[in-house]
Amino acid sequence: MSVTLDRVLVIGGGAMATGIAARLAAADIETVVLVRRREAAAPTRDEIGRRVGQLVGSVRPVTVVVGDAPGPFALAVESVAEDADAKGAVLARAETLVAEDGIVATNTSSLRLADLAEGLKRPELFAGWHWFNPAELVPLVEVTGGPRTAPDTLERLASLSRAIGKEPVTLRRDHPGFVANRLQYALLREAYALVEEGVCGVADVDRAVVAGLGARWAAIGPFASMDAAGLDVHQAVAERLFPLLSRATEVPALLRETRRSGATGMKGGRGLLGDHPPDAVREFTSRRDAVLALLAEARA
Ligand SMILES: NC(=O)c1ccc[n+]([C@@H]2O[C@H](COP(=O)([O-])OP(=O)(O)OC[C@H]3O[C@@H](n4cnc5c(N)ncnc54)[C@H](O)[C@@H]3O)[C@@H](O)[C@H]2O)c1
Repeated sequence: MSVTLDRVLVIGGGAMATGIAARLAAADIETVVLVRRREAAAPTRDEIGRRVGQLVGSVRPVTVVVGDAPGPFALAVESVAEDADAKGAVLARAETLVAEDGIVATNTSSLRLADLAEGLKRPELFAGWHWFNPAELVPLVEVTGGPRTAPDTLERLASLSRAIGKEPVTLRRDHPGFVANRLQYALLREAYALVEEGVCGVADVDRAVVAGLGARWAAIGPFASMDAAGLDVHQAVAERLFPLLSRATEVPALLRETRRSGATGMKGGRGLLGDHPPDAVREFTSRRDAVLALLAEARA
């Protein structure tokens, strides 16, 4: 299928929107970013520039506009706050800014596409396009449709994703948490249980994942890992282990208590792993981004 991605509008100026815009601009797509407040324009432009520089080592033109954007766009993707009303208004507006066959996409993590599509005039051209933080570096995007999304819209969005060097996974139906977040939260449920039962500490869980599961999963997925390990072994372990795994349905006590103490994670200087002073956060971020960049190089 031929792919045209002439002009893309990214709506929002936060962590995800700046990463999405950087990825598009780095792929030489004409990218316009729409922010709400005038004060947000310069920092948004700087942040996108920093991320583009990290990706391609040079500057790419990105236009940041305030309040209104000059259409038409081939695609408009919103990445504003995870709030149904805010997104509903932004998406309805986005529909007026795209070309007649232009796609309107949402980067929602948890809202149902069916609900978000309700106020739209062209739901067949509306889709979910779920990125992962840091958006410019993590290859995966999940492509999802609501009940009235046309299959062609999903195919076009998946093609566009590949054209900018992303790895699209298209879901067969709208499903809360999509694929990757459900997998992540299934792992986190067990991680909290291990810590709460005193089996290991939070830092041990992180080390086990980074040095073990994560290292392997960067190369091959969990099903391929089981095919490689041998399904006889896999079945024997599954029979023994599945009944022992956490089936908790409550938010873990460790998370609730950490939150009750006022901790918000790295953005507030303290989280599940204890204190995160600014220098340590900077070092953590650059180490994470360096590893992700190496992986991207290895995949190219
Ligand atoms: N952070 C993640 O890891 C992650 C991953 C995947 C998807 N998402 C989704 O991406 C979206 C944005 O998340 P984020 O982490 O970038 O948040 P963020 O808080 O960094 O940014 C949100 C941005 O939206 C803007 N905004 C809020 N309401 C608006 C409105 N009505 N009109 C225009 N702009 C508005 C804010 O000014 C801010 O710049 C959310 O839907 C979130 O669920 C986040």
